[in-house]
Amino acid sequence: MSGKLALAVLISGRGSNLQALIDAGRDPAYPAEIKLVISNKAGALGLERAAEADIPTLVIDHKAFETRAAFDAEMTKAMEAAGVELVCLAGFMRLLSEEFVAHWLDRMINIHPSLLPAFKGLDVQQRAIDAGARFSGCTVHYVRHEMDTGPILAQAAVPIYADDDADALARRILEKEHVIYPLAVKWIAEGRVTITDERAVIDGVAAPDGALVNPAP
Ligand code: GRF
Repeated sequence: MSGKLALAVLISGRGSNLQALIDAGRDPAYPAEIKLVISNKAGALGLERAAEADIPTLVIDHKAFETRAAFDAEMTKAMEAAGVELVCLAGFMRLLSEEFVAHWLDRMINIHPSLLPAFKGLDVQQRAIDAGARFSGCTVHYVRHEMDTGPILAQAAVPIYADDDADALARRILEKEHVIYPLAVKWIAEGRVTITDERAVIDGVAAPDGALVNPAP
């Protein structure tokens, strides 16, 4: 028993947020530990990142299951066998069944590349640009059944520049994803988060002061 919060990270691809969690865990003082990485895609780059860090991996191909619930149940079985306490979705490109979300209620979080509740779903960087938004960012939140909803743990805002394309904006956002995801996991692992009236309250954190204006005044 390490006394650390046991994590599973669910991925479908690149796994750069997984990498951020792996890197955070290299600090012996970090209070959470990845016990298992599950991918629904065999070729996911994130699987290599996990293997390099000696973290057990599992490929569970959703196409091998007749129903979404059966696929989800298989993931739950594997995670429970590994003693997982918190599920971290990190670029996991499957919708989740109601049963799965209920089973892991308040024990499953996600990272999304927009300032929720704006721009839920896919293609969010292009949509933020097309909307003429001056800021976007990323959000770590608890998972609820409706996609990209749930109590918010942390957000980071980045400016959108006039000449941005979706890739440039995605890169700027991703850099901040890698900061706030390990931070949110740390707060949970330290027992500092309570959910009251569907809002996550974090003990002992300070709010930033000042405001950002874009374009600059
Ligand atoms: C990230 O932008 C994350 O916010 C979204 O999917 C992407 C995953 O990237 N949910 P990576 O696989 O962690 O590199």
